[in-house]
Amino acid sequence: MPEPILRVRTPATSANLGAGFDTIGMALSLYNIFSVTETLPDGEFHADTVGEGAIELTDIKSNMIIQSYLAACDFWGVKGKGFGLISNNAIPFSRGLGSSASAVVAGVLIADALNGVNAAEDDLLRAMTRIEGHPDNVAPCYLGGMTVSCWDGDNLRYVRLPSTPSDMYVVVAVPNVKVRTDDAREALPEKVEFTDAVFNLGRAALMAAAWATGEWNLLSWGMDDRLHQQYRAKLFPGGEVIMDRVRSIPGCLGVAISGSGPSVLALVRGKPRKTAETMCRTFSEYGVESLFFVLECNTGGAKVERPMKHLRQTGGLN
Ligand code: HSE
Repeated sequence: MPEPILRVRTPATSANLGAGFDTIGMALSLYNIFSVTETLPDGEFHADTVGEGAIELTDIKSNMIIQSYLAACDFWGVKGKGFGLISNNAIPFSRGLGSSASAVVAGVLIADALNGVNAAEDDLLRAMTRIEGHPDNVAPCYLGGMTVSCWDGDNLRYVRLPSTPSDMYVVVAVPNVKVRTDDAREALPEKVEFTDAVFNLGRAALMAAAWATGEWNLLSWGMDDRLHQQYRAKLFPGGEVIMDRVRSIPGCLGVAISGSGPSVLALVRGKPRKTAETMCRTFSEYGVESLFFVLECNTGGAKVERPMKHLRQTGGLN
């Protein structure tokens, strides 16, 4: 493969973390890498995908990186160049680990870099959130770490919280079933009980405060939820039992459905093996194969890199 003009690396993310529906999310140490191989005339694109999603992502018209690129160009009023793209994907597709946010963040960053927009961080995040519809995946994907973000449909306010301790692991079990975010949102009720809303308000506030102060033992409460997980747990085999089984394992600080599912995430202090085995055994009992990742919280967020050769030719960016 020729040396790319531009390379963008985006981390996987886990949104919600239980109580923080559409608001809280964290970046994970698992990455997609997007290489822009050449620039092409306006409106001309070609794309190849290797790894996760390679079978699904053959139609260039529905390629989310290119769609997000065009939306960002439109947002900034620039006539975007066309380009050739190779996506090397490690983030599982349609499993609640932010693969679509990864594409949105990459598309916006490519639009910014390739067309010399040099947008400020706030503008980049605003464009990303507008395209994705909610900020809880794109904010940690772009910024890294654990983020709390609020979106009013036009403006975004966000805080990036401190990193996790070095002995904290993020164990993610990924069952071999897909749940589309649209279906997982469709499964939610239109109205919730006032008491459940108050429950989540307290839990999400506690989670953010615990994270900010390093009171990790409070996460088991902070990640509890009554707004969405009980409905989404019915959408994949084993969903209704897995979290209770994992929660009681020593060292497990908290457990949640990752994003809109079906992956399940546990924050673990100390050895992660028992948690990972329990998750995968539970999926097996319910007839589903699964794999697990033992990850860390990614702190650097998305990275844009232009190889030196092209940096000299174009005056550079980033
Ligand atoms: N907050 C979103 C949801 C994340 O739970 O539906 C999925 O994109």
